Amino acid sequence: MIRDATQADAAAIAAIYNPFVKDSAVTFEVDEVPEEEIARRIHERRTGGLPFIVWEEDGQVAAYAYASPYGTREAFARTVELSTYLDPAFNGRGIGTRIYQDLIERCRELGMHLLVGRVALPNPASQSLHAKCGFELAGVLPQAGYKFGRFHDLAYYTRLLD
Ligand SMILES: CC(C)(COP(=O)(O)OP(=O)(O)OC[C@H]1O[C@@H](n2cnc3c(N)ncnc32)[C@H](O)[C@@H]1OP(=O)(O)O)[C@@H](O)C(=O)NCCC(=O)NCCS
Repeated sequence: MIRDATQADAAAIAAIYNPFVKDSAVTFEVDEVPEEEIARRIHERRTGGLPFIVWEEDGQVAAYAYASPYGTREAFARTVELSTYLDPAFNGRGIGTRIYQDLIERCRELGMHLLVGRVALPNPASQSLHAKCGFELAGVLPQAGYKFGRFHDLAYYTRLLD
C-alpha cells in the first residue's frame, strides 16, 4: 500500500535511511539523521505541497519516496528533485519502481514539468531504476562528493513531464 507519510513514520524512515548514510556513498549526507530531523523534512514537504510517500507492507514501512524543491528561485517552481530509499530486506521485488512511478504521477498531477534524480556513481540499482522510469542521463558532475576518503561522481538524471 502506498500512502502519504506522517510524522509517525519518521522513526521507520530514519531506520531505512541511516544505514545508507553510515555505510554507503549513495547519499552525500555523512552524519546520521535524527528521527526529529526526518519528521521536520516530512513536515516541510507536506506543508510545501510536495509529496512524501511510503510503501507499507504488513504494517511496516518498506520504502519511502519524496520530492524536494530543486531550487529556491521562483523560476524553478515546476522543477523538483526526487529521492527514494528501500529497506534492503525488500530489494529487487519491484517496490522501488512502483513507489517511484507513483511519486512521478503525483508530481505530474501537481503540474511539475522537470524531474531530477541525482545518483552518486556507481549505483546500478538506482541507475536502472531511473532508466526504467523514463529518465535520461543529462550529465555527470565529476568528483562532486567527498565521502569515505575519496571523491564520488554524481549523475544527473532528468525526465520531462508533458
Ligand atoms: C534504488 C532502489 C530504490 C531500487 O529498489 P528495488 O525495489 O530494489 O528496485 P526494483 O526491484 O524496482 O528494480 C529496479 C531496477 O533496478 C535493478 N536493481 C535492483 N537492485 C539492484 C542491484 N542491487 N544491482 C543492480 N540492479 C538492481 C532491477 O534489476 C531493476 O532493473 P531492471 O528491471 O532493468 O532489471 C533500492 O535499491 C535502494 O533503496 N537503493 C539505495 C538507495 C538509493 O540508491 N536510492 C536512489 C537514490 S535517489
